[in-house]
Amino acid sequence: MKGPYLRCAACGATLPATSPRADCRCGGLLDVVHEAGEAGATLRARFDRRRRDGDPAVQGSGVWRFREVLLPGRGPVVTHPEGNTSLYRRDAISRWVGHDDLALKHEGENPTGSFKDRGMTVAVTQAVRVGATAVACASTGNTSASMAAYAAQAGLPALVFVPAGKVAAGKLAQSLAYGARTLLVKGDFDACLRLVREAAETLGIALLNSINPWRLEGQKTIVWELLQQRGWEPPDWIVVPAGNLGNTSAFGKALREARERGLLRRLPRVVSVQAAGASPFFRSFRAGFRRRYRVQAETVATAIRIGDPASHDRAVRTIRETRGLVTAVTDREILEAKAVVDAAGIGCEPASAAAVAGARRLVQEGVVRRSDSLVAVLTGHVLKDPGVVMDFHARRGRHRNPPVTIEPRLSDVERVLKRNG
Ligand code: F0G
Repeated sequence: MKGPYLRCAACGATLPATSPRADCRCGGLLDVVHEAGEAGATLRARFDRRRRDGDPAVQGSGVWRFREVLLPGRGPVVTHPEGNTSLYRRDAISRWVGHDDLALKHEGENPTGSFKDRGMTVAVTQAVRVGATAVACASTGNTSASMAAYAAQAGLPALVFVPAGKVAAGKLAQSLAYGARTLLVKGDFDACLRLVREAAETLGIALLNSINPWRLEGQKTIVWELLQQRGWEPPDWIVVPAGNLGNTSAFGKALREARERGLLRRLPRVVSVQAAGASPFFRSFRAGFRRRYRVQAETVATAIRIGDPASHDRAVRTIRETRGLVTAVTDREILEAKAVVDAAGIGCEPASAAAVAGARRLVQEGVVRRSDSLVAVLTGHVLKDPGVVMDFHARRGRHRNPPVTIEPRLSDVERVLKRNG
């Protein structure tokens, strides 16, 4: 078959890239398979030139810069633009993690405040190309915020399914603001995903969850952009928070394809970090991936409050191929990591802090060695979840910064300053 096509990971069936389906008829997940194309130094030079000089064809996007290996073809793209996120190093965070060579790639700098924009620009572009008339997703809040924004840009009606009462305020506000029809489902994320899969199938709406293979194509660019920022020198470890396992899967695909195209000789090891109260993938990892678990999920990091991750099989492949690891961190560790990242002036949402807490754990366990280079991916912006921040700081204790209410007089200000020393 010429050009990219879709292949079911479960039954091996192939479909043309123009298929409007998000998954296979057998229920398996589809992967985008690219034909062999430009590779090695030529491809690298093309990507690097675009990053350096800009290129009107990719409109300044850190996703479409890699268009040949995502969604080739000359059609118009629905881009904000997105990507081009920073790689930070901060002493205070390195100290807390206990590791000098730690960098943070901040995906919260994307236009709607999370990494989801990278996948959404590709999935919405493809939805438009295949003639979708409406789009839908289940979400813990970020996918829906992103889909709502890109659907608005494309002029497509958007239908969002989120777990009632379990979505952070910033995210829910975005879905409403960008004009998506927002359904608060009385159930958890896993129930939302089951419902939207059924609804999309019956009502003929394009499904834009990360089971949609085009989402993962866009999310691959987190890794490619990271490699590019490091002069194509891979770090030893890439640490990422994990919920529905779309990102873990996309990272594996990105690394595999980068190696196939001669952009990489050595693969970094991918570490997925789950919240202890929502850690079916961690349990499965501990069982040598011999079985798949489903759990009732509960965690302060609502973005990853997921008990039955859809991309389990793909993610297993990532961990196996990169000799990666899966770990889990408690809500307490997540909140402490978040306080440290926030107080460094960078900030992130709770799920993102799980990556930093996971990195710390691996350092403490001696898995990550002193000479290793480590990159943690911050997946969402600090303003996504103001509720968690306000709750955390309203209490006293380590890393807390409670607000102080005063009368409008100077003596009160002086008193507060004196108390703070
Ligand atoms: N971090 C953030 C901020 C997220 O929003 C998500 C997932 C993850 C990490 C986990 O990524 O699912 O690819 O393993 N959020 C989805 C959503 C589920 O609906 O916004 P994953």
